[in-house]
Amino acid sequence: MPEAGEFERELVAGLSARPRSISPKFFYDTTGSQLFDRICDLPEYYPTRTEFGLLTAHAAEMTALFPPRADLIEFGAGSVTKVRLLLDAWGARGRFIPLDISAEHLHASAAQLRADYPGLDVLPLAADFTRPLALPHGDRRVGFFPGSSIGNLGPVAAVRFLRQAAQCLTGGGLLVGVDLVKDPAVLHRAYNDAAGVTAAFNRNLLQRANRELGADFDVEAFDHYAFYDPLRQRVEMHLVSRRRQTVHVAGQAFEFAQGESLHTENSHKYTVEGFRELAEQAGFVPGPVWMDDEERFSVHWLAAPGLPRRG
Ligand code: AVI
Repeated sequence: MPEAGEFERELVAGLSARPRSISPKFFYDTTGSQLFDRICDLPEYYPTRTEFGLLTAHAAEMTALFPPRADLIEFGAGSVTKVRLLLDAWGARGRFIPLDISAEHLHASAAQLRADYPGLDVLPLAADFTRPLALPHGDRRVGFFPGSSIGNLGPVAAVRFLRQAAQCLTGGGLLVGVDLVKDPAVLHRAYNDAAGVTAAFNRNLLQRANRELGADFDVEAFDHYAFYDPLRQRVEMHLVSRRRQTVHVAGQAFEFAQGESLHTENSHKYTVEGFRELAEQAGFVPGPVWMDDEERFSVHWLAAPGLPRRG
């Protein structure tokens, strides 16, 4: 979990920098996690249901690649709905270690999983998976990183994360969901939904700062602004000040000009080949890839060093 004080430190640093930015990991307090669950059900937000369809159709092939008696580790587990498809196909014996930054959400999901899979040892770990992890001892591990959360890291941080994953998953591998480059209009709709849930998710970051840090953001005075940049192959999300205003955080004043932005998220999209190259740079051996008919989303099996290549 982010240590107490980390949000304040990073927000103050992000507001002091130009351009202003903050890590998207701070979206996920309890309210933010609930809003994200609502995003996943939106008609415009295709990644969740597309990946769910791939996991439903191919869970048996995917879990056949897992080494015997492996620990299954989910990075950024959230509400752990997708992993159930793997657990059902895999037999749900052994250990499942869900990792998430939001402890409350994680523990509620873990309790439900224990009730539904009595043969499964569920060991939730509230942790920031981009940092070194203190995992329970085990020599065969399979990672599951769905939802294209890897896209929120950016290519350099993604390789760093994958390198760390390749080391910790020795003897196993990583099953990772990756959103694909596509028609910008589809991407635009996915991050600008008609019901305004993504806007509420974005603005919740400011509400969280008001709640937790005693900041005084006028939340309605910031617009949600999301667009796809085809050159960088990423959706950017911003909070743009509607007017000139002063905001106070941790005893410091920050001036916003009209139209000035706080950059809150990047969501990188990949080609299949581009992502496989990234995985290779990190030391994985890319294996089978599953895609929907419209080629909107992909799930990759990446074999970690120490496991013979399959597929
Ligand atoms: C969690 N992550 C993969 C989501 C994404 O699509 O980048 C977060 C999100 N931001 C806006 N909508 C969804």
